Amino acid sequence: MIIARTAYELRAALGDRSKSVGFVPTMGALHGGHLSLVELAQKNTELVVVSIFVNPLQFSAGEDFEKYPRVLERDIEILQKAKVNILFAPTVEEIYPAGQVITQQAGKLGAEFEGKIRPGHFDGMLTVVDRLFELVEPDAVVFGQKDAQQVALVRKLLTEKKYGGKTVRLIVGPTLREESGLALSSRNRYLSENERAVAASLSRALFASQRASSYESAIAMAKKTLDPEARLEYLELVDESFVPVGPEFQGDALMIVASKVGSTRLIDNHLVHIEREA
Ligand code: PAF
Repeated sequence: MIIARTAYELRAALGDRSKSVGFVPTMGALHGGHLSLVELAQKNTELVVVSIFVNPLQFSAGEDFEKYPRVLERDIEILQKAKVNILFAPTVEEIYPAGQVITQQAGKLGAEFEGKIRPGHFDGMLTVVDRLFELVEPDAVVFGQKDAQQVALVRKLLTEKKYGGKTVRLIVGPTLREESGLALSSRNRYLSENERAVAASLSRALFASQRASSYESAIAMAKKTLDPEARLEYLELVDESFVPVGPEFQGDALMIVASKVGSTRLIDNHLVHIEREA
């Protein structure tokens, strides 16, 4: 695996671009969920680039930027084993040579749910993703369904902007879960044993309401299943543009949930089918 620290080294590692390039952006602290995205990239493209960059612009004041786990040596070993071709691990100065300036706006789609609780988060996420896409010029990018609102925003960016003159294909990997149902996340490492058990109720709540006879019953069932120690931030049924579907809805919608367990914020989502009884 080639480790590129600068844009120049990345360009050299990418070579003549005769192979299709798959790109998996990450913030490191890699787990099985990331590896499943790497596998998807390997299945769909010939050369895989993974980036590790903890992006200061997507952390709001008081969030865990300083505390965010940085375990580069361990991550390098994991990526080497996974036979990744190129690791791009730049410095903040390399990514933002002109200073940390927001260049992408998440707009309405980024203003609700995660965007409301973490102001500026999605502008920062889109800014770094746009910069990384410009540097890598991938044929395909792979993102995890766990961050469903992020996926919706990246999808919108890729319909609006080409990179290296190409339309970039978005591949979305399914959420990987522990046996308890808890979605894999780098933040799970902050959970105590008791908090882990509480956190597992997020996925139980989503699965309990997978099939429902109305919007209200889906929401009620999920709320009932959620452990009271999980402090609910939002629970909603939305369409693919993250617009709440409303009480008359029938069909498939995405149930999204965010809650705080101890001091750790967790998010999850799952498809729900609503069919009203005749
Ligand atoms: O999902 C993440 O880890 C980050 O938001 C991403 C896409 C790597 C951008 O910093």
